[in-house]
Amino acid sequence: LVLIVDFGSQVTQLIARRVREAGVYCEIHPFSKAEDAFARLAPKAVIFSGGPASVPEAGSPRAPQAIIDAGVPILAICYGQQTLCQQLGGRVEGGHAAEFGRADVEVLATNALFEGVWETGRHYPVWMSHGDRVTRLPDGFRVYAVSDNAPYAVAADEARRYYTTMFHPEVVHTPDGARLIANFLHKVAGIAGDWTMAAFRAEEVSRIRAQVGKARVICGLSGGVDSAVAAVLIHEAIGDQLTCVFVDHGLMRQGEADEVVGLFRGHFNIPLVHIDAADEFLSALAGLDDPEAKRKTIGRLFIDAFEAEARRIASDGRGPVEFLAQGTLYPDVIESVSFTGGPSVTIKSHHNVGGLPERMRMRLVEPLRELFKDEVRVLGRELGLPEAFVGRHPFPGPGLAIRCPGGVTREKMDILRQADAIYLDEIRKAGLYDRIWQAFAVLLPVRTVGVMGDGRTYDSVVALRAVTSVDGMTADFYPYDMAFLARTATRIVNEVKGVNRVVYDVTSKPPGTIEWE
Ligand code: XMP
Repeated sequence: LVLIVDFGSQVTQLIARRVREAGVYCEIHPFSKAEDAFARLAPKAVIFSGGPASVPEAGSPRAPQAIIDAGVPILAICYGQQTLCQQLGGRVEGGHAAEFGRADVEVLATNALFEGVWETGRHYPVWMSHGDRVTRLPDGFRVYAVSDNAPYAVAADEARRYYTTMFHPEVVHTPDGARLIANFLHKVAGIAGDWTMAAFRAEEVSRIRAQVGKARVICGLSGGVDSAVAAVLIHEAIGDQLTCVFVDHGLMRQGEADEVVGLFRGHFNIPLVHIDAADEFLSALAGLDDPEAKRKTIGRLFIDAFEAEARRIASDGRGPVEFLAQGTLYPDVIESVSFTGGPSVTIKSHHNVGGLPERMRMRLVEPLRELFKDEVRVLGRELGLPEAFVGRHPFPGPGLAIRCPGGVTREKMDILRQADAIYLDEIRKAGLYDRIWQAFAVLLPVRTVGVMGDGRTYDSVVALRAVTSVDGMTADFYPYDMAFLARTATRIVNEVKGVNRVVYDVTSKPPGTIEWE
């Protein structure tokens, strides 16, 4: 087992995921509780995450000294590197140019971390994200890699098995990062890798049974992969104690409601209740334009709909519905709340996490809470979901409402739905659907002047978004060729009444997010 000490980085769970990929079981614990966890779990290796705090500032988090002194191998990343070096007698300073994004490191010497991956004298791309830096290494440390702005990109004390990186090896934008982490686990710490998704399925089924007991559960299906996988997994665990509910909020894409209901009832043969709640959602959203207010309103209405359905189900006299199941994923958790009690910052209230009203009476079952999107896809295949369904692009719970900055109206949803359908149609025709992680149209609250035929137009702008990603935590915009964009823009302007201009979003994440709200 590996202990990950969390200093509140947005990407701590990516470390866990890289460790799982290497076939090793791990647990994340916040720095404030790490000493207890360490004593209880007796891990064979420890990883310190990054974090948003600044080591030179008074009161910033420190790693438990007992862990540092225990003699187990430690991999310390970014903030973890800084606090470890400071605690071992080195020095950390702020005030340097902050560095975000890609950097190239040069390898100066080899060590166990680099074995079979990095060679001396060569350059490799990595992902940096930091303000402070270590300016003096502790005794016994040596530099193994440098970059222009990072004199200690990799520094280690091989004798004491302390390995530190200034960059983030856990993100996919550090292409060799997973192999460096695997080397730390297998070569430095000597841990074998035999953990699998089949093991996860079996563990989750017994965890769900233990959590739920004889109680009844309803599961909100959104039409996306996550809630479907959650539903099938929970059904495997508790059978007809589960009822699935599909709330159509009028913020779905074209044809989606029919597809979801048909596919779910047909393929899975799990009972499904279909609720048409478009009027309630659209009237509650009228006049709201703050993104968080929109998200929270949608979250509240979902819960109202689920609670009403729970009461209806319970009226058969076979007992109350005590649990609400959701397909919440890790990125939803980390970007919504500081779940560790550590210092990570709220980016958005995802409706199925931070958007839940406090007064909700049902308890939550969230079997995918530890997983990332692509891990959910692996689990979906493991559970026998059809490939076409497993490969669907993600679709957010709040639906098209968060792709329409400003107020939402039925008319705007209609325009957006049409533009989005044309865009996805062109993507499919070009054979690009599976190469893109997620693609959608956004309807901007901006009108611009155009000319069509001999007339002046004054209509809306549609922005197109397409990204590649592995887990939704970081993403790059998709580099279409211009002919594709031109073809799609022409179709949208010609076929969708009310739109006279199309733009393409070329922002990566970070600094953008994938959705616009
Ligand atoms: P962002 O915009 O935060 O999105 O970069 C990352 C991924 O999460 C999806 N997303 C959501 N999924 N409920 C969901 O189920 C939500 O409230 C929500 N908000 C964003 C988004 O579509 C992308 O795949």
